[in-house]
Amino acid sequence: MSSLFLYAVVTLAAIWLIDKWRKRLAFYEKLRWVNKVPGLPLIGNALEFKDPTKSLTRMQEVLLENDGLCYVELLYRPIILISNYNFVEWLLSSNTLIEKSLDYKFLHNWLEDGILISTGATWKNGRKILSPAFHFSVLEEIVTKFDKPTLILIELLEKEVGKDSVNIYSYIKNYALDVICESSMGIEVEAQKKSQSTYVKSVDSMCNIVVDRAFNPLKTKDWLYMLTPSYYKEKAYVRYLHSMSDKVIKSKKSSRQNGIKEDKDDDTGRKKKNAFLDLLLTYKDQNGEPLSEKFIREQVDTIMFAGHDTTSMGLCFAIHCLSKNREEQEKAFKEIKEISEGKDKFIYADLQEMRYLELIIKETLRLYPTVPFYSRNTSQDFIFQENKVIPKDVTLLTCAYAINRDPKVFKEPEKFIPTRFLDTDVKPFSYLPFSAGPRNCIGQKFAMLEMKATLAKLLLNFEILPSIPEHNVILSAEAVLKSKNGFCVRLKKRTI
Ligand code: HEM
Ligand SMILES: *[C@@H]1O[C@H](CO)[C@@H](O)[C@H](O)[C@H]1NC(C)=O
Repeated sequence: MSSLFLYAVVTLAAIWLIDKWRKRLAFYEKLRWVNKVPGLPLIGNALEFKDPTKSLTRMQEVLLENDGLCYVELLYRPIILISNYNFVEWLLSSNTLIEKSLDYKFLHNWLEDGILISTGATWKNGRKILSPAFHFSVLEEIVTKFDKPTLILIELLEKEVGKDSVNIYSYIKNYALDVICESSMGIEVEAQKKSQSTYVKSVDSMCNIVVDRAFNPLKTKDWLYMLTPSYYKEKAYVRYLHSMSDKVIKSKKSSRQNGIKEDKDDDTGRKKKNAFLDLLLTYKDQNGEPLSEKFIREQVDTIMFAGHDTTSMGLCFAIHCLSKNREEQEKAFKEIKEISEGKDKFIYADLQEMRYLELIIKETLRLYPTVPFYSRNTSQDFIFQENKVIPKDVTLLTCAYAINRDPKVFKEPEKFIPTRFLDTDVKPFSYLPFSAGPRNCIGQKFAMLEMKATLAKLLLNFEILPSIPEHNVILSAEAVLKSKNGFCVRLKKRTI
């Protein structure tokens, strides 16, 4: 009896294995047209891409060898690495290949159906509702919200003037958090002054947990993750973050209902447009229905996440580049000084005029795209070109870092040359810090304005010099591109 049972089990297992194997072969057959980077059995190429300080250069290397398209496997997970112009154009322009890959799932507990990670109709609807919130008339107002945090930042950095070396990372990070909280929720968290606040800590810890899960195979599967302490920590952070957003939404909502006008008119009597949250609270659909509290919370949390680490790293890298390129710094300073003559605040139009500073930021994001890669999941078989099928359930990973440093497009790609954006006509899909197509960065203009406003004020107040001893960044490709050893510079007070 028992031997019969054993026999049945073994047979079933064999059938199951053979079926798996057959499917795998069919899968490889479809992908024959993509070069495979040789790997080890079972773990595939996991070892080559495990270390975030080496993964980008390795990606760049294999992409150069394979004309911008190659196949790797991380613990059986099929991934196509991409920097090829035609493929990137096809992929990012697509209106159907819009589902994000597994890596983004770890954000789900926190951001739920927010537009960064949702797909299909949910994403489309969210994107349509949010787009007007990034219209220039709104951004014009948002720009005014940068002033207060910028003043605090300068005040804090003034205490560091004259030191041989100051690591600006935490200053900038807390600053960016102040900016995004004020502009997305209309709340002052004063991260710069109270970096120990639970809110600031929760946002920061959530970002770290999410990155850790994406890189730690032991935490990828939900059932294994649930056995680790981070699972419980994450639960607590998410509960707290959601309760905070809910509280702010509820209180804003009730003060509206009670007719308390929070948004004061400005000197000219113009109605002030407030934070993203206020816009979402006043939104009515065609039937006059307001948005649900859940929808609002998800989008506000999403903006908070997508809009703070990215810009803070962009700023850190820009400051790093300015310290290393003094001539460029002086050119930007001259331009800013002229524009600032007789003003103590910059308005939207002033920032638009800072063209040289814009070139510097563009060049910074070329060398250091703060989102170094981003990826999609094929929810079905897709056909790229004749006879070129991409089977379903493959991760398509666009490597912005490799694209932005392609020597065929950018001469001397490792050098910091802001004016390159003036004389080469860079084609749209060969420079991709903000992605492109329907799922590009919705906050691109916001990010540019924030970085310009901040750098302009910094340059008016400080000369940014290399630290002593001179510092070189060690790039680390986490969800966001970071520097493992921080960003050290030396600050000298400007005497204008
Ligand atoms: C230097 C700063 C920034 C960079 C480099 C950047 C880059 C990107 C990239 C590459 C994507 C596409 C990601 C993907 O395909 O998975 C993206 C999406 C997004 N970004 Fe940004 N971003 C920046 C700042 C911001 C800011 C300030 C905000 C909000 C205020 C923002 C909000 C978003 C949102 C909501 C999405 C999702 C859009 C969608 O899927 O429809 N980003 N960003
Ligand atoms: C990717 O698409 C496949 C096919 O529809 C699906 O089975 C899989 O769950 C998707 N993965 C993610 C991470 O969305």
